[in-house]
Amino acid sequence: MQIDANTMKTGLLGHPVGHSKSPEMLNAAYRREGLPFVYLAFDVAPGDLESAVTGLRVLGFKGWNVTIPHKVAIMDHLDDIEESARAIGAVNTVISEGGRLIGTNTDGAGYLRSLVSETGMDPVGQRVVLLGAGGAARAVGYALARAGVERITVANRTESRAEALASHLGRWTKTSGIGLSRVEDAIREASLLIQTTSVGMHPDSSACPVDPGCLHGELLVSDLVYHPRETRLLKEAHRRGARVHGGMGMLVHQGALAFQRWTGQTPPVATMWDALEESLKETES
Ligand code: ATR
Repeated sequence: MQIDANTMKTGLLGHPVGHSKSPEMLNAAYRREGLPFVYLAFDVAPGDLESAVTGLRVLGFKGWNVTIPHKVAIMDHLDDIEESARAIGAVNTVISEGGRLIGTNTDGAGYLRSLVSETGMDPVGQRVVLLGAGGAARAVGYALARAGVERITVANRTESRAEALASHLGRWTKTSGIGLSRVEDAIREASLLIQTTSVGMHPDSSACPVDPGCLHGELLVSDLVYHPRETRLLKEAHRRGARVHGGMGMLVHQGALAFQRWTGQTPPVATMWDALEESLKETES
């Protein structure tokens, strides 16, 4: 890829960013499409966020992704926030349009695209159990609620957070919030279980967030964890006849949607998927 004075600049603001797979995914996509774009990762401490945004604005960046810990704080430094980001309460993508910085959130839509394209599931009418009530659960819950699921039961270790998220999502669909002690009963009635916590993530990959005995053949089990690719939860679900969906696709599709906003072109999803897979293999070896 030739970099010259007219190269369009995009990137990532986070702290830390050393583990991020986005540079590999996005640069592979730009190369594949022959686009004059580059993507760089910037480690920005929380106290430096405002200066960093001013810097990127002055330097003419076309846009950037935002990750932990800046997804909420960045909202104070943008010119406009789109509905998805407002409803989720966090920005993961910034687009510079005519000098104005627009904040959006592609996590929820990215999740939904991954779910639909990889499993063929129609969200309409699904009975969902959402495990966790953090930032990832907010994004996924919002996307599903807007996509027409029948109901969402939010189950979380801290029950009050489950209730708060359920009440927020109640604007768009039927919801309830419960503690983990009641999650098994909810799963028995569900058609879609989505795991959004860090339980089961490497190196603690023997952990399972629910009693595997409640998993059943009418379920689709979706785990946002992508390292390992097949979590203990997914293995247990598969063994009991459930369909399974791993976390890699959400990462690919949230990045693909950002690519689309910055370049105006259709993202090469397969190329991004291969780049992520390659990068994960290096991490795992
Ligand atoms: P993210 O943005 O990745 O969703 P987060 O906002 O910190 O991260 O949320 C983490 C979620 O994982 C929360 O729902 C958290 O439960 P609490 O609200 O009770 O903290 C959940 N979580 C993290 N570790 C957990 C564990 N060991 N068992 C159960 N839930 C856990």
